[in-house]
Amino acid sequence: MSPAVSIVMGSDSDLETMQESAAILAQFGVPHEVRVLSAHRSPNLMTEYVKAAERDGVKVFIAGAGAAAALPGAVAALTTRPVLGVPLPSSHLNGLDSLLAIAQLPAGTPAATLAIGVAGARNAAYLAVQILAVSDAKLHAAYVAFKADQERAVGAKDAAVRAKHAG
Ligand code: RP5
Repeated sequence: MSPAVSIVMGSDSDLETMQESAAILAQFGVPHEVRVLSAHRSPNLMTEYVKAAERDGVKVFIAGAGAAAALPGAVAALTTRPVLGVPLPSSHLNGLDSLLAIAQLPAGTPAATLAIGVAGARNAAYLAVQILAVSDAKLHAAYVAFKADQERAVGAKDAAVRAKHAG
């Protein structure tokens, strides 16, 4: 039995960024696994893994990659599960190549495209939680609470700034 979410990345050099996804899934108690599987360097391992993971119960894939970033598209080609692609800034183009490679996938093989880097890794996890929460009332309640906390935190910052600059 596989966990609900699979986080895959093209290299262990991507881990520092992609562990942001794992941390958020852990915060919501969403079972997940983290794998290094390169579309370019280990295509056979990647193919075997994605097919087995879907068969064994993975519901959402988060795929992070840099340097032309083939991984999200390759995973999307192999599965019917939603794929959330995170462009990583590991090349000389600082992730622009990765962003375009994921966003410009041809019609029929979609991968949702998040922001480059840490914000994208975090948002991929939030989106995965939202997707799972559609059919999980407890997770939905946790996400509603998270949104309320986020709003309260901004309210507190606003109050602090206003107090400092009053009059
Ligand atoms: C991509 O190549 C990986 O996703 C990584 O972002 C990039 C560089 O990999 P390393 O040379 O650091 O292993 O496939």
